[in-house]
Amino acid sequence: MCCAECSARYFTIDQNIQFVTVFSFLYLIHRSKLQRCSSSARAQDLIAGGTESSSATVDWAIAELLRKPEVFAKVTEELDRVVGRGRWVTEKDIPSLPYIDAIMKETMRMHPVAPMLAPRLSREDTSVDGYDIPAGTRVLVGVWSIGRDPKLWDAPEEFMPERFIGSKIDVKGQDFELLPFGSGRRMCPGYSLGLRVIQVSLANLLHGFAWRLPDGMTKEQLSMEEIFGLSTPRKFPLEVVVEPKLPADLYVSAC
Ligand code: HEM
Repeated sequence: MCCAECSARYFTIDQNIQFVTVFSFLYLIHRSKLQRCSSSARAQDLIAGGTESSSATVDWAIAELLRKPEVFAKVTEELDRVVGRGRWVTEKDIPSLPYIDAIMKETMRMHPVAPMLAPRLSREDTSVDGYDIPAGTRVLVGVWSIGRDPKLWDAPEEFMPERFIGSKIDVKGQDFELLPFGSGRRMCPGYSLGLRVIQVSLANLLHGFAWRLPDGMTKEQLSMEEIFGLSTPRKFPLEVVVEPKLPADLYVSAC
């Protein structure tokens, strides 16, 4: 925060992400012929689906980086080289930041926002891998377990963004070992906005601030416990010390 006067205009990561989502939605209403009642239901879906999902992913990414100083050093080097310390990261920089992209994918592999996607119902009798599934069965897809399956991933419990450098595996629903947005016709409709929001906010948070754990806390003591349910936020809020890294005038003009 640059000064007391502008503190009132500062918002949390979650609030900023909500603004982006709401403005995108208002734009969609403006451009389409949505009715008032369906707009309200859709607005609720979009705000619920599009806010916590992105901020929870950024939260997990930063927690994982605080436990891996060598990964933190590598992403700092990438940001300094591509963006430089004289400005903030913009959307245009993202294609030149492959390590940020790899960190995001690795975070989504280990901490998918919806660990069992949205429940589905089988429409007809079928058989999967030798198991009979009768019509009308409620089906949950265990993407959390798939993301940590040792048959699919080397050292699945290790946070290693490098595994995605040069890999064709993406998060867009085509690679079944990594499905943080689901797949098929019920796949997340907001995935491209979600990806951009995560990439740009994560890159700016890492670029604009030096992060460390509070005095006296070791990286081994940082809890990585999840609340396991329909979504998987951190069980304990992330507590960190941040200090600005860029020239002071950049923080003033940002508020
Ligand atoms: C990190 C960001 C996000 C993640 C990880 C995420 C993940 C998901 C997942 C896993 C589903 C269920 C898909 C399935 O069962 O196959 C879903 C559904 C949905 N998401 Fe997202 N989402 C994100 C961002 C967004 C954003 C930005 C929006 C809107 C602006 C959004 C709106 C929705 C909606 C409306 C659904 C319900 C779709 C339906 O049931 O037909 N999501 N999301």
